[in-house]
Amino acid sequence: MNIGIFDSGIGGMTLLHQAMVLMPRENFIFYADTDHVPYGTKSREQVTAYVDEVIRFMAGHDCKAVVIACNTATAVAAERMRSRYSQIPIVGIEPAVKPAVAESEGKRVLVVATPLTVHEKRLRKLVERVDDEHLVDLLELPGLVEFAERGEFVSDNVTAYLRERLSGYALDRYGELVLGCTHFNYFKDTFRALLPLQIHMIDGSLGTVRQLMRVLAARHELLETAEGEGVDWESHKNDICVRYYESGREITDAAKLARIRRLHDRLETMRKL
Ligand code: DGL
Repeated sequence: MNIGIFDSGIGGMTLLHQAMVLMPRENFIFYADTDHVPYGTKSREQVTAYVDEVIRFMAGHDCKAVVIACNTATAVAAERMRSRYSQIPIVGIEPAVKPAVAESEGKRVLVVATPLTVHEKRLRKLVERVDDEHLVDLLELPGLVEFAERGEFVSDNVTAYLRERLSGYALDRYGELVLGCTHFNYFKDTFRALLPLQIHMIDGSLGTVRQLMRVLAARHELLETAEGEGVDWESHKNDICVRYYESGREITDAAKLARIRRLHDRLETMRKL
């Protein structure tokens, strides 16, 4: 059986990549809903309809679990999808606000995400629950999704965009940056260059993969996992089984598959930052 992982676009590969490293014996289906990317600037009704279509696809493709590798889709649709598709476990990524607040040692926490995630009740409630000292600020960065989908990861335009968006914050007062959109991991090197050294970056992909592992283990459906931090990417990357889809169409084109391999190599570098 398969593990289905999806996002609006290439952002969800952040989570797929982490899952491949920790669960190298599983078979994965990765679905990028490229016909509808971006999700983060659409209405919650539109995104819910897209997510429903993807989960129906996963349910028809022998998936033992589905991972919503999109903070925006989790925020607007996870609960509804769990009751609609009760036969299949659905795990959703969320901004890692709780560990960030716990680790910030009283310094401020900046959560960056899509406009829809920032405006959803789910994130507001999460912040209310864990942010007793009112340390958390929320910032929308929809431009990064567009840069990522264009494959523009490091450029003067990316730097100028981030510099401008971050300019209103006294960054020396911050201890944590929460990457609350899976597309943002592709830009960790630029964030690193712009942020003061004391700011630590955190995202929800490792926590979500660990949650997926717990869910599968409880159902006795988890195949043998890797030790510790996971397998060495270079020596295992060609042996892990993944089928890639763009909005329901399997990707078989050699040039597109080569691009996907390059994205994984970038994500491996970003994962270590
Ligand atoms: N990658 C997605 C997220 O984690 C959404 C990006 C988008 O489509 O706007 O929120």
